[in-house]
Amino acid sequence: MPGRTTVLVTGGAGFIGSHTCVELLDHGYDVVVVDDYSNSSPGALERVAKIAARPPVAVHEIDLLDRRALSRVFDEHHIDAVIHFAAKKAVGESVELPVEYYDTNVGGTTALLRAMHDHGVHRLVFSSSCSIYGNATKVPLTEEDPAGPTNPYATSKWLCEQVLADTCRHLPRLSVLVLRYFNPVGAHPSGLLGEVPRGAVPNNVMPYLARVAAGRLPKLSVFGDDYPTTDGTGVRDYIHVMDVAEGHRVALEHLVGENGMRVFNLGTGQGTSVLELVAAFQRASGTSIPYEITGRRPGDVPALVADPSAVARAWNWTTTRDLTAMCEDVWRFQELNPSGYPN
Ligand code: UFG
Repeated sequence: MPGRTTVLVTGGAGFIGSHTCVELLDHGYDVVVVDDYSNSSPGALERVAKIAARPPVAVHEIDLLDRRALSRVFDEHHIDAVIHFAAKKAVGESVELPVEYYDTNVGGTTALLRAMHDHGVHRLVFSSSCSIYGNATKVPLTEEDPAGPTNPYATSKWLCEQVLADTCRHLPRLSVLVLRYFNPVGAHPSGLLGEVPRGAVPNNVMPYLARVAAGRLPKLSVFGDDYPTTDGTGVRDYIHVMDVAEGHRVALEHLVGENGMRVFNLGTGQGTSVLELVAAFQRASGTSIPYEITGRRPGDVPALVADPSAVARAWNWTTTRDLTAMCEDVWRFQELNPSGYPN
């Protein structure tokens, strides 16, 4: 149990950020949140405080690109380590708005690095994505497999990794862990915290499924059944957000006394097709989910599955929550919060 380690969590009100705040508070860390609420809401942080029975020590509503405001956050708090989630993350939108993606994701990361450097903060966990692997020619993927990002969102994450690697080469005190998440889904088992996508129609399959199961959307479109996979639908490595959050807490412990950058996949190693996911969600929710097969979604790849063995070896840590838990927890959150968090 750490003493009073203070962690700055950027994007702390977002889906993965809020679950990670709970995990950190539950394990004795103090948490300072920075969020501009561009794709999140203060309601998530109220739930964080309720679950953890104590709030973050401070919440700053700022944009990371506002360098003065960011610098003031570091002036005000003694920050020991940073977890950087704040970013734009919709693949389709990134194709329409590439400059915004590079500005927010790459610019936000360099602004943060600069503030850390100016204030003598040397420990960082960075949110990366399996999407950097692009059109993988084989699964499961190891961290040594080549990157080949196919859209500006993925490229922005890949560029951040390059910036961090090079900065570590020149600033030997820096200690960085890059975590490449596969497909985070699920919700806190209390049903109080979950994924609340902006807009009427979610982009990602799990929140879409939840709304179909709840009768709020008529049916799921399954994007393609002619991929070279077991049933022809896209295969992904879904990972419970509680495992992702736990992974960040464990990562913090492994930043101490280290320097340089290390990269790890965060996945389960289990591939699940869209139709297998539909079946699992039907079982977990006791509902029937109508779907229809439609054409492939532009930019989609057939299969992305992690080889999670590197992180298991390095940290003696693995994910523990299965697909049933992911679906049950999403369904509980959906039923208890049909319209997301109250305003
Ligand atoms: N899918 C459908 N119907 C839908 C939505 C998705 O069939 O309505 C299929 C997709 O074709 C894909 C699978 O479900 O085969 C997963 O799609 P998602 O949109 O949920 O997720 P992606 O694999 O496209 O991954 C993206 C980003 C990741 C990020 C993930 C979750 O590339 O970095 O969303 O946010 F982790």
